Amino acid sequence: MVYATCRPNLPEGCPTPCPNVRSGGWVAVFAVCAFIILHSPAVRAQSSADIPTRIILNLTDSPATSMAVTWRMSREYRNAAVEYSVATPGTEFVGAAIRQPGSMEVMNVPREPVAFHYAALMRDLKPGTAYVYRVGKDSLWSEWNQFITAQGGNVPFSFVWFGDPQDDISEHLSRLFRQALRTAPEARFWLFSGDLTSEPEDDQWGELFDAPGFVLRTIPTAMVPGNHDMGFKFQDDSIVRDAKGKKVRGRTVSPLWRVHVTLPENGVAGLEETSYSFDYQGVRFVMINSNDRLEEQARWMDTVLSANPNRWTVVAFHHPLYSSGRERDDRKTRDAFLPLFDKYHVALVLTGHDHTYARSHRLANNSVVSGNLSGTVYVVSASGPKFYEYTSFYDSLMAKTGTGVQLYQVITVSGGHLNYRAYSADGALYDSFELTKQDH
Ligand SMILES: [Fe+2]
Ligand SMILES: [Fe+2]
Repeated sequence: MVYATCRPNLPEGCPTPCPNVRSGGWVAVFAVCAFIILHSPAVRAQSSADIPTRIILNLTDSPATSMAVTWRMSREYRNAAVEYSVATPGTEFVGAAIRQPGSMEVMNVPREPVAFHYAALMRDLKPGTAYVYRVGKDSLWSEWNQFITAQGGNVPFSFVWFGDPQDDISEHLSRLFRQALRTAPEARFWLFSGDLTSEPEDDQWGELFDAPGFVLRTIPTAMVPGNHDMGFKFQDDSIVRDAKGKKVRGRTVSPLWRVHVTLPENGVAGLEETSYSFDYQGVRFVMINSNDRLEEQARWMDTVLSANPNRWTVVAFHHPLYSSGRERDDRKTRDAFLPLFDKYHVALVLTGHDHTYARSHRLANNSVVSGNLSGTVYVVSASGPKFYEYTSFYDSLMAKTGTGVQLYQVITVSGGHLNYRAYSADGALYDSFELTKQDH
């Protein structure tokens, strides 16, 4: 036992080879070896590296009674878990915490470090209640974090929406995320409409966790993938390149997406964690993966919206119906979903991709509606520093347009009122409007 523990990778200073001595001698050698090993820089680095990182809360399809958490550790552990409890004013919750084992998934992507991601569902929670949780194992635990479950019924709430972060995330998204927290500290969740990173690479996902800091551990997120979130195609562990030398992506979301987040799987089969819906305090959110299988998702959306008890419906996906950048015109997405948005009186459609700002008037059947008639507001926005020239092809449908501004949006739903405010990264109000809806 001692020999086996001592022999492999002996650190500098350990007696070599472990001497063939008996009883008491072995104890002494073990003590020396153990001391040296435990205090070696390599082991200290390993220990600190094993504290869970990339911890993120995600909404489930039952946000009043459950919450998903995902985290990374550097090794495979059989007993990694989440511990959670109703929050208490002091530390009384510690003794009352429930332990829920985590499931493990290896991130094993060519050209990336191997990493071990864990996920667990905190279930049987009470609505509208503050909970604390930590993730890890044995002595390797995260700090205790706190979140609030959704309330039952149509209680007013706010959420924050971000268009494409995508580029220079550490450098230029950090202040925007932090300003969003200042503007809407009580937001119940953050929603992203795709192109989370420019490339589906581990370093960029690392920036995505570093930039908002602790926020991802305490405010849950929901996201849909953009084209930049699709996985690279590989051949013999090398990324396939096209004739121009550009890296080729497939139509399947990157494995990095799947290991880093734990999102609902109640949408179209084969598009798990990228196409799903959930209800939050009187709003039905439909999250679409606009990269693939649009007709199937449209049929699924038809079902989801045909039995919708909520007053409000918000849809999020990446590719806009009314393009505002690069002379694009995404007819496929428009053809697939526009009839459903009109049919079911969707209030708000949140998109990205065009790296400009374009907020429409209320529209139905590709036209501006007047008076109190029902219509849908379509918005393109970007949170990151990449910008395109504004394309004015759909200008007649737009109420507010622009480019060159990093933005985040705070949306508040309160009974028959939906209040929308877009803010620039410096915290200044950039655009706002309000929708009212008395019926359900
Ligand atoms: Fe995009
Ligand atoms: Fe983008």
